[in-house]
Amino acid sequence: MRAYLTLALLASSSLAQSTVQLFNFSSYVDIENIALRPNGHLLLTTFDQGRLYTLNTSGRTHHAQLVASLPGATALCGITAIDHDKFAIVGGIRGSYSYTNETLYTVDFTHNAVNPIIRTVARIPNAVMLNGMASLPTQPHIVLIADSRLGCLFRVDTTTGISKITFRDDTLAAPTNASIPIGINGLKIARGYLYFTNTARGTFSRVPVSADGLKFGDVELIVSLDMSVSGDDWDDFALDTDGVAYIAQPDNSIVRIQPDGQQIIVAGGGETDDIIGPTSVQVGISGVLYVTTRGGTVDGVTYSGQVVEVQLAE
Ligand SMILES: *[C@@H]1O[C@H](CO)[C@@H](O)[C@H](O)[C@H]1NC(C)=O
Ligand SMILES: *[C@@H]1O[C@H](CO)[C@@H](O)[C@H](O)[C@H]1NC(C)=O
Ligand SMILES: *[C@@H]1O[C@H](CO)[C@@H](O)[C@H](O)[C@H]1NC(C)=O
Ligand SMILES: *[C@@H]1O[C@H](CO)[C@@H](O)[C@H](O)[C@H]1NC(C)=O
Repeated sequence: MRAYLTLALLASSSLAQSTVQLFNFSSYVDIENIALRPNGHLLLTTFDQGRLYTLNTSGRTHHAQLVASLPGATALCGITAIDHDKFAIVGGIRGSYSYTNETLYTVDFTHNAVNPIIRTVARIPNAVMLNGMASLPTQPHIVLIADSRLGCLFRVDTTTGISKITFRDDTLAAPTNASIPIGINGLKIARGYLYFTNTARGTFSRVPVSADGLKFGDVELIVSLDMSVSGDDWDDFALDTDGVAYIAQPDNSIVRIQPDGQQIIVAGGGETDDIIGPTSVQVGISGVLYVTTRGGTVDGVTYSGQVVEVQLAE
C-alpha cells in the first residue's frame, strides 16, 4: 500500500484543535519515551543520566518530578505498563548507535505512588540498541523489545529475567547503506498484530504475533513515510483503540495513519514550531495526545525536550 494523500497533507495541521506545551526542561534534556499512569500522570524516560520523571498533567502549571536515576544506565528508552501502575523500562550505557550494559528494570508504584520499588530484572548482553517495547496483552509480565541495530525482537520475561531473540527480519533492520542505522524503533501489540516503525526505511508495518510472543507471520507494509513532506525519519508512535496510529515524525509533526494506510499530519508540520523534535506519542485518558520531544535548534535557538498536549479537532 502507498501513501496517496499529498493534497490533504498540505492543508493538514489545521486538524489539531490546539497544541499546548505542558512542560519543558530548562536545560537540555532529550525525552525519549512516555507511558500513562492509571491516575493520568505521565512517565518520561530520558537520555539524561538514566533519569525517569513523572508529570502531573492536571492544573495550569506542570513540573516534571524526578522519580529516580535507574542504576547503571546513562539513557532510558522504551517503557511499557506490565501491571496496574507497574512498568518495565529498558536502559543502558549509550554510545554512538550502540549501547552497552542493556538492562531491563521494573518500576512499581503499587505500594507507594511517589517512591516506587525499582528492580533490575534482566541484563541483555547480546543486545546492541534496545528501543521501543510493548508487553503481551494476555501475559503482560512478558515484553517484546525492539533492537534497532540487530533488526530483531527480544522477548523478555520480567519475572524470570530470561531473554531470547524471538523474531528477526530484514524489515526490522536498517538497509546496509542507511545514513541513520536505526531500523525498528517503536512497537505496539494489538489484536494479534505487532505494529512497528522502521526509522531508516521510513516504514510503518505490522506482523501477526502469537499470544505468547513466540510465533510470527509475514510482515505487511501498511504505509511508507511521505518523503516529500518530511525529510526525516519516523520515531515512536501511539495506537488508539480503533487501530489508528499517531507517529512522531521529525522534525516537527505528528502524522496519523489510518488502518488502511492513509497518512495525514495532525499536529505541527510546515513552518510551525509547536513541536520540536518529537520522539514519542501517548493517547491520554480523555483522548488527547501527549507528545515528547528531544528538542532541537530552531532559528539558532536551542530548545530542550518538551511534553506537548495535542487536542484533535474530531
Ligand atoms: C496533580 O495536580 C493537581 C492540580 O494542581 C492537584 O490538585 C493534584 O493534587 C496533583 N496530584 C498529585 C498526585 O500530586
Ligand atoms: C556494565 O556491566 C558490567 C557487568 O555487570 C559491570 O562490571 C560494569 O561496571 C558496568 N559498567 C558500567 C559503566 O556501569
Ligand atoms: C540505498 O540503496 C538503495 C538500493 O540501491 C537505494 O534505493 C537507496 O537510495 C540507497 N539509500 C541511501 C541512503 O543511499
Ligand atoms: C521552554 O519553553 C519556553 C516557552 O515556549 C521557551 O520560551 C523556552 O525557550 C524553552 N526553554 C528551553 C530550554 O527549551
